[in-house]
Amino acid sequence: MPNRTALITGVTGQDGSYLAELLVQKGYRVYGLIRRLSSPNVTHLSIIRDKIEIIDGDLMDQTSLNEAVRCTSPDEVYNLAAQSFVGISFGQPVLTGEVTGLGALRLLEAVKSHAPQARVYQASSSEMFGHVDREPQDESTPFHPRSPYGVAKVYAYWACVNYREAYSMFVSNGILFNHESPRRGLEFVTRKISDGVARIALGKAQTLSLGNVDAKRDWGYAPEYVELIWRTLQHSTPGDFVGATGESHSVREFTGEAFRVAGIEDWSKYVVIDSKFNRPSEVYNLRGDSSKAARELGWTAKTKFKELAQIMVEADLKRLSQQGS
Ligand code: NAP
Ligand code: GDD
Repeated sequence: MPNRTALITGVTGQDGSYLAELLVQKGYRVYGLIRRLSSPNVTHLSIIRDKIEIIDGDLMDQTSLNEAVRCTSPDEVYNLAAQSFVGISFGQPVLTGEVTGLGALRLLEAVKSHAPQARVYQASSSEMFGHVDREPQDESTPFHPRSPYGVAKVYAYWACVNYREAYSMFVSNGILFNHESPRRGLEFVTRKISDGVARIALGKAQTLSLGNVDAKRDWGYAPEYVELIWRTLQHSTPGDFVGATGESHSVREFTGEAFRVAGIEDWSKYVVIDSKFNRPSEVYNLRGDSSKAARELGWTAKTKFKELAQIMVEADLKRLSQQGS
């Protein structure tokens, strides 16, 4: 199917930038929705900045979303924008609800009015499972969100299911478990560790402060997950799909592996436990079962835990070495 048009919200973020690269490679005309900031934030788009078109808009603002959908007439809409940091969602619950929850609804309304045939992808999250009562988690696992972010994602998830059922729109949820890369924001734990470890190895920092190092996550590699995102909208019917590696590891294990990659075996002296990074309610353990995605979309995660830590630490070592002191 040549000459398809895609509209991506959240294009400046980790997943949005990888997805834009994938779609450009596949010959799509790609529009990226960007909100107005006092300083432009397009670092991750450097490879493809001249190959995509930028549309001004904000998930907080219905008018701009209507106009973005109307003027781009997309075949596929990928809603990747969100206030995506769980930690800050406790301090900014209303903003998180507005952007991450209601923002998805606003986009659905814009698509319903201006491009009802478009296929819509919603970036749902394993954080919706939250306080889990079974392992691994799949598409039938009940939701028990543990943060304002998780609550907002549950709202957006059900809004998508509702628009699918009420208006026969092609709307799909990707329930993705944590996925990381050198483009991950520095506040997320894997990147905080890879950056912190690289700084210690290069003599630019003495310690790394962390919160709950016993928390466990199912961590995959982001460039592989945007392939799943794309495949979700190529399926013959809309639906909900879990994306995960099937393995769970603790923050402590990731820390150890990251130090090992940097050549530091005895790492405990560098790590400081600071309760200010603890959350009022924690998600202790997530591990996903993505056999539905394997069966119906032909997708499996390839990069696992150790390789992921290696990719991230090596990228930060290289970046920080080039920066000098
Ligand atoms: P990210 O790097 O934090 O990117 C978030 C994007 O949302 C950025 O482009 C940001 O733009 C944009 N955004 C924030 N507020 C906005 C607003 N009001 N209007 C328009 N755009 C706004 O997140 P990510 O890791 O790529 O994740 C992509 C999506 O998947 C998110 O919805 C996230 O919640 C979800 N998700 C992520 C994971 C994961 O492990 N990465 C797992 C499951 C689900 P600025 O650059 O202007 O801030
Ligand atoms: N950020 C952070 N910083 N987390 C820490 C720290 C720290 O210093 N120390 C321990 N942790 C623990 C957190 O308490 C949490 O249990 C775990 O590390 C992972 O935290 P994050 O990397 O912030 O990710 P997250 O799992 O809360 O959320 C990410 O994954 C979700 C999918 O499950 C985000 O990408 C969400 O947007 C995404 O939906």
